[in-house]
Amino acid sequence: MTNAAPAGIDDIVLSERDFLRIAAIIKADAGIALTREKKALVFSRLAKRVRILRLPSFSAYCDLLEASADQDERRTLLSALTTNVTYFFREPHHFEDLREKVLPELARKAAAGGRVRIWSAGCSTGQEPYCLALTALSAAPELARADFKILATDIDPEVLAIAERGVYEKTLLSKVSEHDQSAYFHEIDDLHAEIKPDVRKLISFRRLNLISHWPVKGPFDVIMCRNVVIYFDQDTQEMIWRRFAQVMDADSRLYVGHSERISGPARAAFKPAGITIYTKASGLTFN
Ligand SMILES: C[S@@+](CC[C@H](N)C(=O)[O-])C[C@H]1O[C@@H](n2cnc3c(N)ncnc32)[C@H](O)[C@@H]1O
Repeated sequence: MTNAAPAGIDDIVLSERDFLRIAAIIKADAGIALTREKKALVFSRLAKRVRILRLPSFSAYCDLLEASADQDERRTLLSALTTNVTYFFREPHHFEDLREKVLPELARKAAAGGRVRIWSAGCSTGQEPYCLALTALSAAPELARADFKILATDIDPEVLAIAERGVYEKTLLSKVSEHDQSAYFHEIDDLHAEIKPDVRKLISFRRLNLISHWPVKGPFDVIMCRNVVIYFDQDTQEMIWRRFAQVMDADSRLYVGHSERISGPARAAFKPAGITIYTKASGLTFN
C-alpha cells in the first residue's frame, strides 16, 4: 500500500518495506515504536526531506540512513519523527502535588544542608523544567540559595536549543500566573518573553537518550517523565521504569503522562500517590 501524496511530492511513494526500514531505525535509535497507523505521518514528515536531498525515492533515503556514516541524517530523522508537543503547566495537578506535598519536605531538606535534585526527562522545548523551577521558587524561594538543581534532558538537540534559549511567544504563557510572569520572565518585545537568568541558572539542559547510557548520578527527589514512554513498546517502558527506580530514593516522586501507567514487574518498586503520580517504595532495589 502507498500513501496518497500531497502536492509537489506526488512522484514519491513510501512502500511497506521502506516504512519498516524507517521504523527499525527509529526503534533502534530512540526506542520509538512506529505502528502501521503512523505510516501516513511518516510519509508526510519525510517526503519533503527526500526532495530536499534530491533523492529519487524513499528507498534511496533508507539506504542513506542505513549507511552508518551518516549520523547527521539520522539526527534529522529523529527530529522529524519525534513528537515535541508540550506547554506550560500541562497536567496542572502534578504541579499542585509538587507544591503542596513535596516541596515543603524538600525545602526542609535543603535548609538542613541537603541536596535537592529534580529531573525532567523528555523536556522538549523547556516548558516542563521551567514550570518545575517556577513552582519550586514560588513555593520555597530559599531553594534558590540552596543546593538545588534541575536536570532537563531530551534526545532531540533541536528542541533542547529552544529550551536553553528560554524565549517564548507571550501567547504560550496563558497558563502561567500573572505573578509568575512578572517575577520570572521579562518581556523582550511585544510578542516574546524570556525566562530570567535566576530561573535559567537552576536548570542544566543535556542531550540524553532514555534507551542508552544515562550519565546521571542521582538520586533524584523528583522525576517528571511525561508523554515520552507512551511512544515506546511495553518492554522498553518497563526498562525505563526500572532504571528510574534505580536513581530514586525511597519516597522520591515520579510523575508520568496522563495516559501512562507503571506496569509489569517494575510496578512493585512504586506506590501510587495520586493520578499518574508515584513514590518510590522503600526497601526495593533493582540491579
Ligand atoms: C511529547 S514530548 C513531551 C514533553 C513534556 N515532557 C510534556 O509532557 O509536555 C516527548 C519528548 O520526548 C522526547 N523523546 C523521545 N524519545 C526519547 C528518548 N529515547 N530519549 C529521550 N527523549 C526522548 C522527544 O524528543 C520529545 O521532546
